[in-house]
Amino acid sequence: MAGEIFLRRDSCPLLAPSLLSADPLNLAKAIEAMEGEYDWLHVDVMDGHFVPNLSYGPALVKALKRSFAQDVIDVHLMVESPESFIEPFLEAGSDIISIHVEATPHVHRVLQRIKAEGLKAGVALNPGTPVEWLRPVLHLVDLILVMSVNPGFGGQRFLPEVLPKLHRLCQWRAVDELSFLIEMDGGLGLDNVETVVRAGCDVMVAGNAVFSSSEPAVAIREMRRLAERVVHCGSS
Ligand code: DX5
Ligand code: ZN
Repeated sequence: MAGEIFLRRDSCPLLAPSLLSADPLNLAKAIEAMEGEYDWLHVDVMDGHFVPNLSYGPALVKALKRSFAQDVIDVHLMVESPESFIEPFLEAGSDIISIHVEATPHVHRVLQRIKAEGLKAGVALNPGTPVEWLRPVLHLVDLILVMSVNPGFGGQRFLPEVLPKLHRLCQWRAVDELSFLIEMDGGLGLDNVETVVRAGCDVMVAGNAVFSSSEPAVAIREMRRLAERVVHCGSS
């Protein structure tokens, strides 16, 4: 089972580089090239059904936990019937598992299951899905993952029309006295980190912006510098 991790809003904004954009033949080197500047490692799992692409399985999470034991592994399951995959990702050493609200009729049950195993549970939302779909499960989650591109591929253009979802989530979190973090995933970079953090993003996922740089550590530092200049809704 994963070690206890704490998701705290007062340490946000956090940065979670997506390994999907790293050189698959040199993942360990790509992680080392970030010189410890990241907060979480974001692992995008794709099944070729929920999204039109294939990527990693639990073996990668296990290998990451072996070599980077102290790191928080943030698993983003873009798979149909996520209930079939909780067990293997749990055994592999995931710290956070997010499932898509569109991927199962049993969102509530799957989130309960993840929590029952002592992991942090997240629920993810596609750009075309109304944020209201999340309201019934907000009390169950540690993390809301708001997609700002259509899931399946790295390096896509950021969709600004999803930003109002963050405002709504911040409102619900305050009204219901909850403490989940809000993660935004897709198309983030130096040109929009201030906007997304101002809108309420606590955790920034970034693939292309980090790994297309010849100096990933510098790219992260620069994103963090811009993000930290902004007072976000979680900091009040
Ligand atoms: C998309 C993935 C993202 C993505 C991020 O399906 O969930 O994590 O790869 O990459 P960038 O930052 O390049 O959009
Ligand atoms: Zn992702």
